[in-house]
Amino acid sequence: MPSRTWQASERRSRLELRVVDDLAEAGSHIFLETAPRTIALAGGGTPRPVYQKLAGHPEAWEGVDVFFGDERCVSLDDPASNFRMANEVLLSRVSARVHPMRDCDAEDYERELASVFGETIPRFELIFLGLGRDGHTASLFPGDPAVGVTDRTVVKVQRPDHPRLTLTIPVLSAAKLAVFLVTGADKEDALVALLAHADVPAARVAAERVIVLVDAAAAGADVP
Ligand code: 6PG
Repeated sequence: MPSRTWQASERRSRLELRVVDDLAEAGSHIFLETAPRTIALAGGGTPRPVYQKLAGHPEAWEGVDVFFGDERCVSLDDPASNFRMANEVLLSRVSARVHPMRDCDAEDYERELASVFGETIPRFELIFLGLGRDGHTASLFPGDPAVGVTDRTVVKVQRPDHPRLTLTIPVLSAAKLAVFLVTGADKEDALVALLAHADVPAARVAAERVIVLVDAAAAGADVP
């Protein structure tokens, strides 16, 4: 991949906080309303019910290019794989153009992105993101050099459980719409940090529009 640098935006996105009773319904509605032609899916457990609900709208996935925000470096049928979860509940049931992250090969995925977006920075119409308790998102973890990378679109990250591939902040920030999916009281502190634009990786996502979709448990008492 030719070396280039994209300005990791200093811009702070206005965060639209939405506290909802039914995250799956709300997340599904955003997808259907946005009708993206390109999307990056989040991993972890929170998005699962959103994907399950979206499997009921196969027509909305016709011809959509589906990428991943990050992936654990395991086989695609490993229980830890983000692809496996999304494929099980959604992608195997719709006819989207799916682009899994394979073989822990960051350069290969950069080429895969370029095959759809060309040589400019990938500008996803929609990115679903999770939020870790430490304020990480995708596989961009606090203190990891990957968080500050501005000359790559995909990087490899070493982690105690599995190495991972992740989209970089410039890609997440180039999105037209980024939607954080956050549930559970254990995410309250991370949510407060995100909303306060504190120094956590999730707060660096400066997409054109950012919606923070949370349930009441995550919203708790401390969320403004
Ligand atoms: C991953 C995700 C990661 C996840 C958060 C939240 O591969 O694990 O990309 O960023 O979104 O850790 O995970 P939960 O939704 O399971 O709480």
